[in-house]
Formats: sequence, C-alpha cells, structure tokens
Amino acid sequence: MRPAVLDKAEIGRQYRKIAEEHRLFRRLPSALVTVREIFGSVCLQGADVLDVGGGNGSLGIWAILNGARSVTCLEPEIAGATLGSGSRAYAVAAALEMSNFRVLPLTLKEYAEATTTPADLVVCNATINHIDENACAALGWCRAAQTKYIEVSRDFAKVVKPGGRLILADCSRYNFWPLLGLSAPVAKTIEWDKHQPPRVWRRLFEQAGFRCERTSWRSQALLGEKWSWVLQSPLVAHFTSSLFVLEFYKPTS
Ligand SMILES: C[S@@+](CC[C@H](N)C(=O)[O-])C[C@H]1O[C@@H](n2cnc3c(N)ncnc32)[C@H](O)[C@@H]1O
Repeated sequence: MRPAVLDKAEIGRQYRKIAEEHRLFRRLPSALVTVREIFGSVCLQGADVLDVGGGNGSLGIWAILNGARSVTCLEPEIAGATLGSGSRAYAVAAALEMSNFRVLPLTLKEYAEATTTPADLVVCNATINHIDENACAALGWCRAAQTKYIEVSRDFAKVVKPGGRLILADCSRYNFWPLLGLSAPVAKTIEWDKHQPPRVWRRLFEQAGFRCERTSWRSQALLGEKWSWVLQSPLVAHFTSSLFVLEFYKPTS
C-alpha cells in the first residue's frame, strides 16, 4: 500500500518508475513533464477525480500518488482509443494496489446521466475532439455541430462539483507546418482539422458556466525535463504540436 504522504521528489521518482515498468508513455522522458504540464498547480490532495477518456490511466495514477481520494477513469474504448487501454488501466491500478482507482467502460454522456456524485476535479486529455469528431471538425461554422458540443459542455458541467475544476487538454488545429501543407516534424499523425484552438473551448465552456483560469502551452519535454519551460509558449507550440491546457473553475453559485 502506498504511504499516505510522499514528498514531491519521491512522487516524481515513483511515477517515473511506474511509467517505465508499465509503459504508460511512448517516450519516457515526457512522463513527468506531461502530468506536471496538465495538472499545473491544481490541488489533488483529498480530491475525487474523474478522468474522461482516461486511456491507460496515466493521469489517474499521478492523481492517486499525489493524494487524490479516488479516481474514476472513464474508458469506453471508442473513437481515438488504443485497443485494450481500459483493461490496461485497470491492470496497472490493480498491480499498484490502488483500490481507490476504478475504470468504467462508459462515455461521458452515459456517466453524466448515471452519476449523482460530481467530482472535485475532472480531467480530459486528448479526448474532447473524439467525443464527436465530425461535430468537432465543423464547430467553427456549423450550427448543428455547435449544438452537439453545447450538450457536451453541459455533460461536463454535470460531473464537476460547484467549486470544482475541469482541466481540458488537446492540440489546436493551428500549426505552422500544415498551414504550409507540410507534415509537422514532431506531430506527424495529428488530424489537424479534427481539433479546435483554446478560444473555441473557452467560449463554449464559459457559456456552460465555467470560468477559465489558465491557458498554457505544452512542451512535450522535447528538450528534456530541465528545459521544458523554454517550449511552453504559444509561439513555440505552433512549431511543435500545438498542445494546450485549459483549466476551468466552476463557481459555487
Ligand atoms: C486519444 S485517446 C486519449 C487517452 C488518454 N486521455 C491519453 O491522453 O492518453 C482518446 C480516448 O477518448 C475516449 N473517448 C472517446 N469518446 C469518448 C466519450 N464520449 N466519453 C469518454 N471517453 C471517450 C476513447 O475511448 C479514447 O481512449
């Protein structure tokens, strides 16, 4: 069983070891940078966390190591999924004896309709566009697509407690290389037209009652852990993978 309180350096060491043993990341050096860039300074101690489209559970495991009270990982293995990711998340949590980590094979909508206990923190990495890929691609100009994603934002609002937070991470459709008709050197597989920039998500989630408190850009640890800050700017991100993180607060009234 994990000790109740670990210091930051020890959490980092443990997480890197777990990420390596269970192959949670394609590139091991990006493991710690990824979780730090996504969670920022949000408080995980004692939090009930919901990870929407949680994949292999990499974010939830970080949350538990940082003192989260529980993690619910929704992994229906549909659009954008790696086959078997849900059962992998379950197996990793079981191997680590994390009894407060559960995996449910439910979509956000199914969970939002079924749950009566909203979370303190909801995290959604590289999943928002997969919830309805066609609608996401058309969000800028199609009324029906906008209506679909208004529904999605309301589903998110249902699963976040008043006073809770939502962290939404994805990549923007705007990147230097595809704008020139070229393939981005460090993001060759991204289907850019199925993504939206932060301002689109900010507007949508603010209409659903959230307040945006952070927009940050990710380095992907391309220069290693020590130099990640050099790449954490919107300008640089547009030459790498255009990865961003939005942190929203849901007011209590
Ligand atoms: C690209 S993966 C991201 C996985 C993980 N968050 C990560 O960053 O490694 C997208 C995930 O979204 C999940 N997904 C797609 N539509 C979903 C929905 N409506 N509700 C919940 N999860 C969904 C898929 O099953 C897939 O595992």
